Amino acid sequence: MTQPLPLILDVDTGIDDAMALLYAAASPDAELVAVTCVAGNVPGEQVAANTLAVLELAGRGDVEVALGRESPLLRPLKTAEDTHGPRGIGYAVLPAARARVSARSGVDLIAEEARRRPGELTLVTLGPLTNLAAALQVEPRLPRLLRRVYVMGGAFRVQGNTTPAAEWNMQVDPEAAWMIYRAWATALAADPTIPRPVVLGLDVTERSPIRPDHVIRLARLARLAGGRLDDSIARADGNEPFLPAVPVAGNPMVRFVADALRFYFEFHAKWDGFYGAHIHDPMVVAAALDPALARTQAVFVDVETGSGPAGAMTVADFRGLTGKPPNVEVATELDGAEFLDRWVTRVGALALALYPPDAG
Ligand code: BDR
Ligand code: CA
Repeated sequence: MTQPLPLILDVDTGIDDAMALLYAAASPDAELVAVTCVAGNVPGEQVAANTLAVLELAGRGDVEVALGRESPLLRPLKTAEDTHGPRGIGYAVLPAARARVSARSGVDLIAEEARRRPGELTLVTLGPLTNLAAALQVEPRLPRLLRRVYVMGGAFRVQGNTTPAAEWNMQVDPEAAWMIYRAWATALAADPTIPRPVVLGLDVTERSPIRPDHVIRLARLARLAGGRLDDSIARADGNEPFLPAVPVAGNPMVRFVADALRFYFEFHAKWDGFYGAHIHDPMVVAAALDPALARTQAVFVDVETGSGPAGAMTVADFRGLTGKPPNVEVATELDGAEFLDRWVTRVGALALALYPPDAG
């Protein structure tokens, strides 16, 4: 087997960030070096608490978790409890982790680890780009030191999910995104061999929603393992049952997924008209681990930092109209069915391995 890919995840956990952490923990082809936290879906301290708790649930309480920036570079923080629940993990409740947050700042961690392992680390950002922008100020050579950066963010040929123009991670800190894309443009002008960040926007992450039957597949794995059964993933208001005929195994990891996703499903039912969810973030981890999952196009990308209706819009020059050399690889296709299958299979296998059947 090839060597696992060393990853740093930068998260704002967040329901789909949690699904990404589970995927990374469940992936034998990933070496989870550290996780850095940024304020976004919920405030920074809550992000760190969620991240520690999810990693412990996934058997990875040993991974260093560092808190980075607790507010955007220039703007006040906006959070999204309406989307992710009061604490950011939907209806799920997890015990506080035994592990503590690192003494290092997440910003320093990114810079220090990149220097310690030049050319080896893949950084996957799943929240606002504040930590990476701040790390670039600490270590301007990051475009050269990192093996590759994968970004969840932006809406290129589609509408935003926060305003008609803007995707959430861009909307929280557009100046950070602007800085990053400029920094790579500058670095690439000096050395065209530097790897361009790979950016997965809503164009691909909203094409393959997770649905109740994916959770049911996960639950079946747990049931086969002999876990205790219950049916409490039914929707809270009872109007649209979450396939109540299929019981959920009493496996803590499956239980967490069901309780977290049920909140996300209800949010999407309200705003997007279907009972399911776009789980953007784990798709980006999956693409980082296996680039064959996504097709990309090299383009020049800029970010609108003004406050008008196009604020935080990611503007991609697909036609080459600006004449500016590409600074980003934008994902144009992603094999969503394959991703979902891998997510269910890997997380299911980890759930079985960590929480084996009760003797009784
Ligand atoms: C992004 O915004 C957040 O709410 C999600 O965690 C994801 O990273 C999708 O727009
Ligand atoms: Ca996120």
